[in-house]
Amino acid sequence: MNLADPQRTTRRDAIKLGLLAGAGLAVGRGAPLFGEVATLTQEFMTRPIPGTGERLPIVGVGTNQWGARSEEEIAPLREIVRLMKESGARFIDTARIYGRGRAEEVIGQILRELDARDDVFIATKVPTADNREEAVASLEACMTALRVERVSAMRVHFLDGVEILLPILREWKEAGRIRYLGVTTMSAEQYPELERLIREENLDMIEIDYSVLDRAAAERILPLAADHGVAVVVARPFAGRRGGVFSLVGDRPLPDFAGEIGATSWAQLCLKYGLSHPAVTVVIPGTDDPEHMVDNMGAGRGDLPDADLRRRIEQIFDELGG
Ligand SMILES: NC(=O)c1ccc[n+]([C@@H]2O[C@H](COP(=O)([O-])OP(=O)(O)OC[C@H]3O[C@@H](n4cnc5c(N)ncnc54)[C@H](OP(=O)(O)O)[C@@H]3O)[C@@H](O)[C@H]2O)c1
Repeated sequence: MNLADPQRTTRRDAIKLGLLAGAGLAVGRGAPLFGEVATLTQEFMTRPIPGTGERLPIVGVGTNQWGARSEEEIAPLREIVRLMKESGARFIDTARIYGRGRAEEVIGQILRELDARDDVFIATKVPTADNREEAVASLEACMTALRVERVSAMRVHFLDGVEILLPILREWKEAGRIRYLGVTTMSAEQYPELERLIREENLDMIEIDYSVLDRAAAERILPLAADHGVAVVVARPFAGRRGGVFSLVGDRPLPDFAGEIGATSWAQLCLKYGLSHPAVTVVIPGTDDPEHMVDNMGAGRGDLPDADLRRRIEQIFDELGG
């Protein structure tokens, strides 16, 4: 059984959207590092945001390390966005505090250079605020750094200050400066509060960590989000930068069954694991390496694990001591 949403970006759609290699590419400074990515475009799966039906390609990027300052540091990040634009991937996850406060600025600069603002879905996060003035100043700071008047999604980071921030996010949504609002958490200790917010606050989107090494969200949060029509963004799909899936698998070969779902790397297998939960809307692997981005986008094609393959993937990581 394939749990992927059956509606995919077909080749015809891709041509229509100008996604195929050479179609309307707007390349920024410097030559492309990885050439064209036509093969990525043919079957990029999409899923709808429940509240609106807007479809999102299911693999995006996380930018918590995007603190680049020099052109040398920015170049690979620009290449990542260029590759996304070319392949049809759209979701860029960021936050006011990422990259030691630099990530939003870096993204804003790159989108301007690549003329890619309309090609991406910018989802950022606002940090806690003590009062309304501080909250509004923070929101304006996000917009200024990103060089935009409006963003696709704004979330309350770590559920911190929801009482002050959620009403303001609603006003901004009403005013058209935010398309989707929500909250994020990285701590299972906050799940009871997250459950309450999902039930009571009419959220458009949540962001939680979920991976083959960290399955806590599958117990209650993912089913609840599905029941309430809340989009789910999966952060830390490799279980984070330290002690994650890659340190466990080392140079072990992929299991034979990976080929059945078109996974050619451990990264793709792990992303496909996360995506095979039907409540998940998009995964946002963190990277600042264009080659890894190409690898990760490969998880958006082919099939997704069924219940049996999900169990076999879990078993591999359980045996590795995850
Ligand atoms: N809401 C929150 O509070 C919160 C908290 C944490 C994270 N997040 C979001 O979730 C995103 C992802 O989390 P994360 O970056 O902490 O953890 P992650 O995505 O689970 O893992 C990132 C690690 O995987 C490596 N990697 C990425 N693609 C790879 C590939 N194809 N092959 C081998 N290694 C690969 C990265 O190295 P390279 O950089 O070298 O590719 C990095 O070391 C963040 O960027 C952020 O946007 C949100």
